[in-house]
Amino acid sequence: MNTKILSEQSLDEAVRLLKKGEVIAIPTETVYGLAADATQIEAINKIFAIKKRPANHPLILHLGDIGQLEVWADNIPPLAVQLAQSFWPGPLTLVLNKRPSVTGKITGNQSTIALRIPKHPLTLALLKKLGTGIVAPSANKHKKTSPTSPAHVLKGLSGEIPAILDGGPCELGIESTILDLTQDRPIILRPGTISAKEIEAVLGYPIEMNVPSDKKVPGNMAVHYQPDKPLYLLTKRAIERELLPGMLTAIIHYSELTYKKGPLYIKMPSDRAGYAKKIYQTLHTIDESPVDKVWVEQPPNTSEWDDVNDRLTKAAYKP
Ligand code: TXA
Ligand code: MG
Repeated sequence: MNTKILSEQSLDEAVRLLKKGEVIAIPTETVYGLAADATQIEAINKIFAIKKRPANHPLILHLGDIGQLEVWADNIPPLAVQLAQSFWPGPLTLVLNKRPSVTGKITGNQSTIALRIPKHPLTLALLKKLGTGIVAPSANKHKKTSPTSPAHVLKGLSGEIPAILDGGPCELGIESTILDLTQDRPIILRPGTISAKEIEAVLGYPIEMNVPSDKKVPGNMAVHYQPDKPLYLLTKRAIERELLPGMLTAIIHYSELTYKKGPLYIKMPSDRAGYAKKIYQTLHTIDESPVDKVWVEQPPNTSEWDDVNDRLTKAAYKP
C-alpha cells in the first residue's frame, strides 16, 4: 500500500476513506492521530492491528461539537460541561461514563469513555463533514515516540495506512491532559498542556494529580513513548563530567554547557511550551542520527513541567 499525503484541498478524499472504513493519520494541536470512524467496528479493529496495541487499551473519541457529547456519554456532570466550554476545542480529554450502546472496542471494555474536541482547523472540518466521532490514538506503533509531523507518521506507518492528512507540524507537541470525572473527585490521569492550576481555576477547588491507578492503560505504564536509542535523564553536571571524547552520545540540553565533547548537541528552548513543542521532534531526529544513546538534561522539577517530565521519565531506558 502506498501512503498518500493529502492536503487541505483533498479533505473530501480523507472523508471518503474514513467512511469506507479505512484508517488514516490526522493532525491535531497535540500530536498526529491514527483515525477511524467511531461507528465502524472493523475500522476500529484496524487501529489496534496497525499499532499493535493491546485490545484493553482504550481510545480517545474526538468530536466536532459539544452537542455530540450526549450521544456517547451518560450521566454527564455539570462540571464536565463547564470544563468542555472552557477548554474545547483544546488539549483536554475528559473521562466520563459511556452510554451503554457505545461499543467496548473503543473503551477497552471499560464502562467509561475518554472524549475531546481537538483544536486543529483541518480536523475540525473533517469531523464536521464526517458527521460523527473519530477514534484516534497517537499515530505511532505501540510504545514508540508520538508523531508531531507527517514525516514522523511515515517513519512508523508508511505503507500500512492509505493516507495522512497534512496539517503541518503540531502546535503543542505533547498529548492532551486526561481528566477523569467518573471518580468521587476529578483526577488527572495524564498531565498535558492544560495544567492542574487552569482546571482548578474553573472548578474552584484543588484536584488530584497522577494518582496511581491499577487500570491497564498506556498512560499508566512505566515504559511508553520509547525512542529507538536508549534515553537517560541526567543533571547538567553529570553530562559535563561523564561524557568522554569518542562517545556516540546525543545530548538534549536547555542550559548552556561549558564543555562539549559529544557528536550531537540539541539545545532546547528553556520555556516549558517551547520545550514541549520540540521534544518528540528532537527524539525522532536523534533516532535517524548515528548515535547509540541519548542523554537528556533533566528539566526543572516543578509542577509547570509535569507533562514534559512525565513523557521523558516514560521514555527513559529501563534495564
Ligand atoms: O492529545 C491526545 O490525546 C492524542 C491526540 C491524537 O488526540 N491522543 C492520544 O491517544 O494521546 P493515545 O491513545 O496515545 O492515548 C490515549 C490515552 C491512553 O493513555 C489511555 O489510557 C487514555 O487515553 N484513555 C482512553 N480512554 C480512557 C478511559 N476510558 N479511561 C481512562 N483512560 C483512558
Ligand atoms: Mg500514544
